[in-house]
This record gives sequence, structure tokens and C-alpha cells, in this order.
Amino acid sequence: MDTGISTIRRIGTDNVEAFRRIRLEALREEPLAYASSYEDWAVLGDDEWRDRMREPVFVAFLAGEPVGLAGLSRQRPSRMAHRASIVMVYVRKSLRGTGVADGLIDAVIAEARGMGIVQLELAVTAENRAAVRFYERKGFVEIGRVPGALIHEGREFDDLMMALRIG
Ligand SMILES: CC(C)(COP(=O)(O)OP(=O)(O)OC[C@H]1O[C@@H](n2cnc3c(N)ncnc32)[C@H](O)[C@@H]1OP(=O)(O)O)[C@@H](O)C(=O)NCCC(=O)NCCS
Repeated sequence: MDTGISTIRRIGTDNVEAFRRIRLEALREEPLAYASSYEDWAVLGDDEWRDRMREPVFVAFLAGEPVGLAGLSRQRPSRMAHRASIVMVYVRKSLRGTGVADGLIDAVIAEARGMGIVQLELAVTAENRAAVRFYERKGFVEIGRVPGALIHEGREFDDLMMALRIG
């Protein structure tokens, strides 16, 4: 998929290096946006990175360089298999507001529809107003709040739970 500025591709284990680069950039630059820390992922071996690519991973490329990321994680229990979460969403700061994030989410939604998913969900730090606003614009609605969902540098942060019906 072409967003006009970048190209979005679902990448496979033959491109683990692109995944590693953009995921570690996201965790380093935006520590409050994710449940995992940079340190959690920096220590992973090649097999563990490939293992995390068993589910769909989409990367936005600009001039061959990874600049954005989004993943899809489906519920495993059979009665929940119509649900999946959007995870790891990130766009490099210099490319925000350009439509790269739209392209990533649209690619994840298309993939999810193809898998028969009817409900997408996500968790976002309540204070992350740009991300909340972005997801609202994509049609997600707030369905709940997890108090003290994350502890970062000794402080608790709430998560907002959001959902989008795509069936
Ligand atoms: C979340 C993210 C992918 C969205 O991409 P983006 O290019 O910034 O998204 P957009 O510019 O299309 O939309 C952001 C919206 O928030 C608004 N916004 C930007 N900064 C804001 C702020 N500080 N407060 C409130 N709204 C803000 C923008 O105006 C825009 O709203 P609009 O469409 O009504 O104009 C990107 O911001 C990002 O990578 N953030 C860091 C990582 C992150 O938070 N990931 C989400 C994990 S759940």
C-alpha cells in the first residue's frame, strides 16, 4: 500500500532487521506509549524476534528505511477468535500528521477483515492525547479505562481501552 509518502508492507521473518530497528526506535523514543520497555526487547535474540512475527507486522518504509510500525494480535480462545488487538503502533516524529499512521492502521484493518476479525481493540495511555485523537478519527470508541495500567519511572498511568467494529 502506498500512502503517498511511504510504502506500507506486511513484513516476514526475512526482514526481521527492519522490525527490530523500528520497534527499538519506538520503545526508545516513546517509553510511555508501550507496556514493554526498551530493555525488554533490546535483549531478545534473533529467534525471539522472529517468534514475535508469527502474527502480522506492518512496517512503513520511506526510501527503504523503516519509519512506522503496527501489529495485529488475535485472541487465541475459540469464542474470542473474532477479536484482535492493534499493537506496537508508532510513526517517527518527523512523519506524524502526514498520513503514514492512517496507512498503517488501514493496512491492519484490511488484514484483520481478511482474517474474519469483526472487532479490533487497543489500549492507549490516557494521557497520550494525540494517539487517542488519532484512534477516534479512525472510528475507535472508548470502552473502558484500566486504572494504574502502567508504572513508568515510579508513577502510575491509566490506559484507555478502545474498540472498533469492522465486521
Ligand atoms: C499515535 C501516532 C501513530 C499517530 O500518528 P500521527 O501521525 O501523529 O496521527 P495524526 O496526525 O493523523 O492524528 C493525530 C491527531 O492528534 C492531534 N494531536 C497532535 N498532538 C496532540 C496533542 N498534544 N494533544 C491533542 N491532540 C493532538 C492531531 O491534530 C491529530 O488530530 P486531527 O486529525 O483531528 O487533526 C503517532 O502520534 C505516534 O507514533 N505516537 C507515538 C507512539 C504512540 O503513542 N503510539 C500509540 C500507542 S497506543
